[in-house]
Amino acid sequence: MFRTIRTGSPRRSTLVVGVFKSTQRRPAALQQLDDAVGGSITAALKSRGFSGQAGSFAAADSVLVVGLGEKSSATMDSIRAAGAHVRSELERRGDTAAAIEIHHTMPAGIGSAEEIGQAFAEGVGLSNWRFTTHRGTASDAPPNEGRLALTSECSDVRAGLRRGLMLAEAVNTARELAATPPNICHPGWVASQARKLARTTGLHCRVIGAAEAKKLGMGGLLNVGKGSAQKPCLIILEHRPSKPKSDERLVLVGKTITYDTGGYSLKSSSGMKGMKYDMCGGAAVFGAMQAIASLKLPIRVFGVLPCAENMVSDVAYRPDDIITMSNGTTVEVTNTDAEGRLVLADALAYSCSKLKPTRIVDLATLTGGVVVGLGHFCAGMWCNDRTLRRSIESASEASGELVWRMPLWESHRQFMRSRHADLWNSAPSRNAHPIQGAAFLSYFVDEDVPWCHLDIAGTATTEKDTDLYASGPTGFGVRLCAALAADLATP
Ligand code: BES
Ligand code: MN
Ligand code: ZN
Repeated sequence: MFRTIRTGSPRRSTLVVGVFKSTQRRPAALQQLDDAVGGSITAALKSRGFSGQAGSFAAADSVLVVGLGEKSSATMDSIRAAGAHVRSELERRGDTAAAIEIHHTMPAGIGSAEEIGQAFAEGVGLSNWRFTTHRGTASDAPPNEGRLALTSECSDVRAGLRRGLMLAEAVNTARELAATPPNICHPGWVASQARKLARTTGLHCRVIGAAEAKKLGMGGLLNVGKGSAQKPCLIILEHRPSKPKSDERLVLVGKTITYDTGGYSLKSSSGMKGMKYDMCGGAAVFGAMQAIASLKLPIRVFGVLPCAENMVSDVAYRPDDIITMSNGTTVEVTNTDAEGRLVLADALAYSCSKLKPTRIVDLATLTGGVVVGLGHFCAGMWCNDRTLRRSIESASEASGELVWRMPLWESHRQFMRSRHADLWNSAPSRNAHPIQGAAFLSYFVDEDVPWCHLDIAGTATTEKDTDLYASGPTGFGVRLCAALAADLATP
């Protein structure tokens, strides 16, 4: 791992060149580059049967050639993967500076030079994260603590590299929050992190504590947090640019359950393990706000984090309780483990009544059912507005953070009506339970507000190491939300 990665042009750097598998003719620009470095690229390509296979390398002098795989199947994700491969190769070689020449070899139509630079830097930055904060005296020393600088001859690529590194840093902020254990990461701690973020980025931060939440009638947030010594809170981060380019007011809401035991509807020990990750929606919103602020996007954005710890105690809420939410809706608690929708409900109702949103996106590790249905491949998406859905889908495509459309009909909404109160938080059967969650939430969003619910229970973490992500939290949603905000910022 590198301690820091930044953009800059040091005097001596490794020239990184991307080359596809079995390309017959070299692009003219690559030939020119080869001439400029005295034929080192040709020399590297000749070395021990380099084929251009993804992740393979060939080197000569200060040139490092990275294989990009098949040209016909190249995507932005192949460039992100190349960034990840190059990062670990530079680390292995002990190189501290690299000039990136990868866009010259790209097939037409894959993306602009800036997009390619961005994707590459995302790969470098995302693959550079491990959770090392809590290594103690018995740990081995970290293998590498060097610094890395990235640059390019092309100014568009340089702009992309800067953007990509900023985005990766914001994603890694989200992963760091998510990985922080629940004995440290409780609602008050998340609030202190939000205040710190606001100080360093210029975001505004307001924290509604338990007493104020009570005045606002937030029965969902308060009841879920009632069993914990750590009091619940609602955090509102705001990005307020001086010259916004549109009248948009984008609200991002993230489920922030710092630990989910299930409450009295207690989880099994194997089901409970890993529930520190039940705040990944909030972490994604936190990271997205960091990205939006550091990219100085000209759009007004709010980040809303309902934070609570779902515990068991003599004062905890219980199945059969009937609670009243901040919009006056009554809810029969049929399952204390369906807590995410209760805290989100108050956050959504608050957003609609206080923040005048033009669009709302919520992200939540809401249901195990979405993991069964969609695995870790994509998030479940529910959206009540065609335009917003198209924007989400294009942000998803640009970021590589995949989503898949799910249904939400009036029949699903009726399914959530209780006999003893307006709603119940979980129907008697687990049928379609990810949709039950979405249907429940819909009662807390004003009908005329375009709204999208993303169930990220499957994508928030990964069990096995991938090119971009070491096993653990992925920060899913940060780059998607940043891409969405960037898209909405340009009317
Ligand atoms: N936090 C869980 C969902 C979850 C499960 C996230 C596995 C990540 C991995 C959520 O609060 C929950 O417990 N959902 C219940 C809902 C049910 C009671 C309707 C579930 O999925 O079983
Ligand atoms: Mn739960
Ligand atoms: Zn939960």
